Amino acid sequence: MKQPPSPDLRYLFEPRSLAVIGASADERKIGHSILKNIIDGGFKGEIYPVNPRGGSILGLQAYPDIGEIPGVVDAASIAVPADLVFDAVKDCVRKDVKFGMIITSGFSEIGKTAEEREIVGYANSNGMRILGPNIFGLYSSVASLNATFGPGRISPGNVAIITQSGALGLAMIGKTAVENIGVSAIVSIGNKADVDESDLLQYLVAQTRTQIIMMYMEGVKKGERLIKILMDSTKKKPIVIIKSGRSERGAIAAASHTGSLAGSDKVFDNLMRQCGALRAESIEEGFNWCKYLANNPVPGGEETVIITNGGGIGVLAADACEKYSVKLFDDNMRLRETFSIATPDFGSTRNPVDITGQATSRDYDSAFNAALYDPHINSAIGLYCETAVFDAANLEHLVVETYESFLESRKPIVFSLFGGEGTEVTLRSLAKQGVPAYGDVYEAVSSLGAMYSYYRNIIERAGEMPADSMDMKGLSDMQSIISNVLKNDRNFLLAQEAHDLMSIAGIRMPQSATARNLDEATVLAERIGYPVVMKVVSRDIIHKSDAGGVALDLENRGEVIDAYQAIMRNSRANVPNAVIEGVEIAEMIKEGTEIIIGARRDRTFGPIVMVGLGGIYVEVLKDVSFRAFPLERQEIMNMIKEIRSYALLLGVRGEEPRDIDALIETIIKVGYVIINCREISDIEVNPLMVYEQGRGAMAVDARILLEKSEVR
Ligand code: COA
Repeated sequence: MKQPPSPDLRYLFEPRSLAVIGASADERKIGHSILKNIIDGGFKGEIYPVNPRGGSILGLQAYPDIGEIPGVVDAASIAVPADLVFDAVKDCVRKDVKFGMIITSGFSEIGKTAEEREIVGYANSNGMRILGPNIFGLYSSVASLNATFGPGRISPGNVAIITQSGALGLAMIGKTAVENIGVSAIVSIGNKADVDESDLLQYLVAQTRTQIIMMYMEGVKKGERLIKILMDSTKKKPIVIIKSGRSERGAIAAASHTGSLAGSDKVFDNLMRQCGALRAESIEEGFNWCKYLANNPVPGGEETVIITNGGGIGVLAADACEKYSVKLFDDNMRLRETFSIATPDFGSTRNPVDITGQATSRDYDSAFNAALYDPHINSAIGLYCETAVFDAANLEHLVVETYESFLESRKPIVFSLFGGEGTEVTLRSLAKQGVPAYGDVYEAVSSLGAMYSYYRNIIERAGEMPADSMDMKGLSDMQSIISNVLKNDRNFLLAQEAHDLMSIAGIRMPQSATARNLDEATVLAERIGYPVVMKVVSRDIIHKSDAGGVALDLENRGEVIDAYQAIMRNSRANVPNAVIEGVEIAEMIKEGTEIIIGARRDRTFGPIVMVGLGGIYVEVLKDVSFRAFPLERQEIMNMIKEIRSYALLLGVRGEEPRDIDALIETIIKVGYVIINCREISDIEVNPLMVYEQGRGAMAVDARILLEKSEVR
């Protein structure tokens, strides 16, 4: 049956009217708290309590039935026991309600998935959408709507929060108040049976009030869609993600290296990075980033300077810069020019700029000003260790003034202050004023690092082009190989089939052919090109080398003739009754850097790809990185750079650099195959020999698996 069109999410965030089904006069009930928050929050639209008893609740007329409400009802909060929810949804449908927020617990989270699906299915097929169930509700500053049963006071601002966890979400509301974070929206998605984070992202990215979005996630349901939407959203606004369940996908049965390596949080982490989302390690860090990104300018470039009165803390900050990919300005001549007026002779104008332990607020002031007015410096980290000589009474004023002038010049700055009680008091006061000053150096640098991740994401993806797509030629040939495999009731391709499919995709594999006689052997060897290897082809000879049936590294016609005769002679002598079908002539594989490329159709994220150091130690070294298809060239390059063995591709100890372009090409082609051949579940090229620059790459072995369900 055709679904009616989905209502615009504006009806959820800015409803003209809202019904509370399960509104109660009893203060202990959730339906009471929600109604009270809506009234106290100053909701701009009509509020309709619904309760079978009717009468008046919190000064508003209550309707025994939603059908009796005179005006339109755009959205309804449903807070009645689980067994009454379906009837309430049916009542909403009759009233043409566009969004139902089902607060009630007791559905898929306790295994009642069928009940949940039935309710959502019914609502959707009647043009109504569901938020939840199992949620604490929604806050939307644009409508002054606090339809939650959380804290009553939420300060409006520019940070939107989407949370899958109810309890944590409620706690986050409290945290926003403590941290002075203004909120544009808070949405609890609970079981996300219908409206999910992707829907909400689309709305919030387009909404002008929201400047930054923070998502707390526990699991991903429709990963492929989430990736597409995130890719687009992160170009417009920073998106901070906190995800728990770091090993939740570890249980996936592994049919390949890629499968077993994909069974970790690493895939999620890599894909989020690919999308340009900022993944925080903890809620605390997520809040820090949100606060920082919401209130500070995006830098004009990558050059950061550290100004410190302590060498030790300066080194700590430099370490933190490395961890969070904050680039330190290292033009020493320029640094000397800029900072010599603020640095005593026994200090250092190198980055970290050490104005020494004797620095006063005036010295700091002149160093900060030097950084502020130097056009080569784009951001700063101010460090302070409490000392006896520093005029502590000026500390707060110094930090506030400096922060404001940096803000005005659109240069981001962070501070880390370390010391006793006085410093702690200053830190608390600065936090209240929204100045990014932290006790811990790593916290400070982590916020600046998040800003730089966002900055790089915008810069790098501004001119993003889709990866070259191949023409459709050959796709039908690939399909016919796959159909043949399926006909034979197999879910894997034989070596020759995989070889043929890869060759059609344009991935170079060692050429080989079988010669039935000596003449054919010489012709084939010429065609394949020297050096070649030769192997006897006979079902009766299992151990070919032992039988003298193998010859390696044959350089010319003469060697091929000798080897052919020797193979025939040895094989007949060692296995007298063997039926010999011929001799296989194959291209000799040259040594190269061994890389693995694995692609799989991930159940959550769709087609993903892995690249890493190949060979037999793949699973031990786990030196791999992941991305989701489709991929553009630059992102493939980023992915390759992420592996620790990247240095091997650049060439070590005087070696020639490797043909990284050929590696990128191969990844694109593998992607083409997995995207277009939907029956394929896994492709593993291992090893791919990557040769010197300009000499290409060769897939020595390729395994291709098909979806099991297609085989049955
Ligand atoms: N329409 C409107 N109101 C109805 C109704 C209907 N069809 N049927 C019952 N009600 C009224 C009840 O009469 C009651 O009002 P009253 O106090 O005036 O009698 C009110 O709705 C609530 O019903 P009640 O049976 O008292 O339920 P409850 O308040 O104890 O619990 C929930 C309801 C939804 C709160 C509870 O089932 C629940 O799911 N709690 C967990 C919520 C949660 O944690 N969500 C996730 C957060 S992250």
